[in-house]
Amino acid sequence: MPKTCISPMTMNSAILTRSCEQLEYVRLIRRELHRFPEVGTDLPRTRALVLRELGKLNLNVREDVGGGIVADLQGPQGSPRIALRADMDALPMQEESGLDFASEIPGQSHMCGHDAHTAILLGVARLAATQAGPLRNHVRFLFQPNEEFQPGGARAMTETGCLDGVDQVYGMHVWPGQPTGWFGTRPGPLMARPDVFSITVTGKGGHASAPQNCTDPILAASQLVTLLQGIVSRRIPPGERAVLSVTRFQAGSSYNIIPDTAFLQGTVRTLSDDTGDLVQTEMQRLVSGLAVSMNVRAELDYQRGYPVVVNDATCTALAVTVLRGISANVDAGIDPVMAGEDFSYYLNKVPGCFIFMGCGPCGADGRGGLHNACFCLDEDCLPWGVAAFAALALQEA
Ligand code: NI
Repeated sequence: MPKTCISPMTMNSAILTRSCEQLEYVRLIRRELHRFPEVGTDLPRTRALVLRELGKLNLNVREDVGGGIVADLQGPQGSPRIALRADMDALPMQEESGLDFASEIPGQSHMCGHDAHTAILLGVARLAATQAGPLRNHVRFLFQPNEEFQPGGARAMTETGCLDGVDQVYGMHVWPGQPTGWFGTRPGPLMARPDVFSITVTGKGGHASAPQNCTDPILAASQLVTLLQGIVSRRIPPGERAVLSVTRFQAGSSYNIIPDTAFLQGTVRTLSDDTGDLVQTEMQRLVSGLAVSMNVRAELDYQRGYPVVVNDATCTALAVTVLRGISANVDAGIDPVMAGEDFSYYLNKVPGCFIFMGCGPCGADGRGGLHNACFCLDEDCLPWGVAAFAALALQEA
């Protein structure tokens, strides 16, 4: 048994034992992916690796289903079909982890751990495809591009029928800050709808010494930033969750010029469409009102993000039971997370559950969190990921 695999103390399940046997394989694949990260929908090298590995197994592989790769493992006739999803894409940022297998592509890196997700799912495919004895279910493996950017790779894949015939779908994300062996999820809303807004305020520029001859867009946009903060505190019921962050404020070029325009951008995060739509309506009202009260032109561009990730209660209960069956430390009622995930597109089609998997501490040894240039994960989490997915797909512990 590899030294770094799951402690023998917890080795009370056949799935865990077989997952540990995949550790070296999964680690090698993960490191290969990590060295050559690709961003967005165009992932030629990553796709080639996934197809290479799937080609070694007795699976029915479809190379392009809405831009993703879909592989099927045949189970007994009439049995349910369980889908498992991994995202394959990296981020457009420079890695500073100092790992000896750090990214070799300048300005691109796997700082969200999708390299681990892809490697884990390949490990599960290998485990399931080579298992002795009959399967209980059909298993479908979904390898998805472009989780990080709108409109999300999951949308094209689901629109192209990647879930046709699927009864349940499961997805996972590594979760720094929680230890290896920890899993967290919850029934109902788990992750937010991440909307994006841009506001352009146009006034009339001129000499800074003569504001009476100008219409100052900076003053108007500043008022708007303050007014926007009243939406969450005054318009949203206290029991609802909502975040509104203005993250960009750009205006002007010099100390002595009142500019013509000011530009604001930010994000709104909500856990229901009703709340998200209410925020959008209130923003529009404030922006329109600002135009009148400050004598400027103010335009709101509001883009809805991925849908809310809503876990099915039955699938979540099943996942919790299955994970506890492999001795995982499961928190079945974590707080919702206000980040977004395009896994929601799958959950809007078929019932399922999205799960966070602990991958070690943040801050220790210079490790950062997700989307941090120093993000790195504890590779001991890899067999836990394989075991969790395999137990969910095979539904045996
Ligand atoms: Ni991610």
